[in-house]
Amino acid sequence: MTTPCPTPHFAIAIDGPAASGKSTLAHQLAKRLGLVMVNSGAMYRAVTWQVLQHNIDPNDHAAVLALLGRLHLECGDDGLSSTITINGHDPGDALRSEAVNANVSTIAAIPEVRAKLVALQREYLTRTNVVMEGRDIGSVVFPDTPFKIYIDAAAHVRAARRTNMGEIDSVAQRDAADSQRATAPLVIAAGAAILDNSDHTIEGSVSAALDILKRQGLPI
Ligand code: DC
Repeated sequence: MTTPCPTPHFAIAIDGPAASGKSTLAHQLAKRLGLVMVNSGAMYRAVTWQVLQHNIDPNDHAAVLALLGRLHLECGDDGLSSTITINGHDPGDALRSEAVNANVSTIAAIPEVRAKLVALQREYLTRTNVVMEGRDIGSVVFPDTPFKIYIDAAAHVRAARRTNMGEIDSVAQRDAADSQRATAPLVIAAGAAILDNSDHTIEGSVSAALDILKRQGLPI
């Protein structure tokens, strides 16, 4: 993986396991700090959705790679959040389907998929300042950013959050796969501050995150 070129823009990296509150925190920080929130998981979900749409077995690497070469991903933003189309289609709610939840970790473990998506994630910094959430943002995508938070919550709290959202998602299984894969596993990045929000309200998490970012040198 090459080191990203310096750009005039900066990134706040928010990493953590499934249902740890990354998206909620990233949205709130983006709103308050005037940044674009980028959901990198949506990109892995979009590729997974296409694999399933084409009836490709996610474990058939050759078939996935053949499809990957034909996929055109457009990653933009609406001024507040990231947007994504894939071969001209907006996947919408399909990204959160049970089938995508069950297969996204398999697709996200494929190095060629990651290389393609990491390049698109880095491209955001040529255009804007971002708060980007995912699994490897502080460790691989933007290792040089000083602004890094690893957000976590107790396993039972995270599982309950997904159920309350009405989603069928084996959070523990996905976390194990995401943490144990060979390429860019979920880790606490060097320099990241850990924020456990098991007992926090959303406002409490945001205020703790702002304190961390101030300590990390963000001029706020
Ligand atoms: O954040 P999420 O739950 O929507 O992410 C879906 C999956 O995508 C997650 O199980 C692992 C993968 N992912 C990843 O490998 N790297 C990222 N930066 C973001 C997500």
